[in-house]
Amino acid sequence: MAARISGYEERLRGLTARDQYHLLEPITGPTNHRVTVRGRELIMLGSYSYLGLIGHPRIDAAATAAVAEWGTGAGGVRLLTGNTGLHERLEARLARFAGREDAVLYASGYVTNVAILSALAGPGDLVLMDMLDHASIVDGALLSGARWKTWRHGDMGHLERQLREAQGKYGTILVVADSTFSMDGDVLDLPRAAALCREHGARLVVDEAHSIGALGDDGKAFDLARELFDRGLFVCPIGHPAVPKGQARLRLTVMATHTDGELDFALAAIEEAGRALGLLQREAVGA
Ligand SMILES: Cc1ncc(COP(=O)(O)O)c(C=O)c1O
Repeated sequence: MAARISGYEERLRGLTARDQYHLLEPITGPTNHRVTVRGRELIMLGSYSYLGLIGHPRIDAAATAAVAEWGTGAGGVRLLTGNTGLHERLEARLARFAGREDAVLYASGYVTNVAILSALAGPGDLVLMDMLDHASIVDGALLSGARWKTWRHGDMGHLERQLREAQGKYGTILVVADSTFSMDGDVLDLPRAAALCREHGARLVVDEAHSIGALGDDGKAFDLARELFDRGLFVCPIGHPAVPKGQARLRLTVMATHTDGELDFALAAIEEAGRALGLLQREAVGA
């Protein structure tokens, strides 16, 4: 145990020495396209609220009314005392929205992937994943007890070879991918993936966490995030293990509530920060 703790301490010292120790910034007040951190207003470029629905007056009013009518908690897990009419109404609405027979709610995306993958696959089965699938998919596959393999990110030819090789060797074959990849924002070739699964008798699971409704080395991503923070932008650096070592990046998201002025400001700040760090030498982005 002592060795483990001193290992953590050593890692922390190394990260701090390389200026890669990323502290969580406390947001105060509501979150939307602008947020306040330690009394400073920043443009938010890391939110998943792509449609800008957080803070929408109808949603705020519905949440307030729900607290008044239902209180703030269920008093137990859903399986025992925590199942309410609200859950069931929401599931019915989501099923209608998705054009499906039924839907099931989980408390988070992580839990969803762990629950779904361990329900659909088990010992004797195979889970095939894109290399950049979200970490919760990898955890779900591990916990399922099935064998698992990855295909090279976005390489449908590689997936096809894996499917061919797996033929007849497993009970169920599950192919699992983010539909919009959480780290790079690129999109799965869904028609091809679906066709391959049909052809090889595999089941396809698509994680739509970033699609419903709607750089460089590690040190540089962290430095750039800090520079952008100082210039008024809230941007998240994403490092290992969320992405492979050496492929850290900044993940910027645009929300429906951002104004053109805010995005122009953000572009100018990114350009300035990129120059300050020597990442941008030539002409400006969009010049
Ligand atoms: C594609 C994908 N799936 C699942 C999750 C996990 O979601 P949660 O943070 O709700 O556990 C995330 C989180 O960002 C994600 O990007």
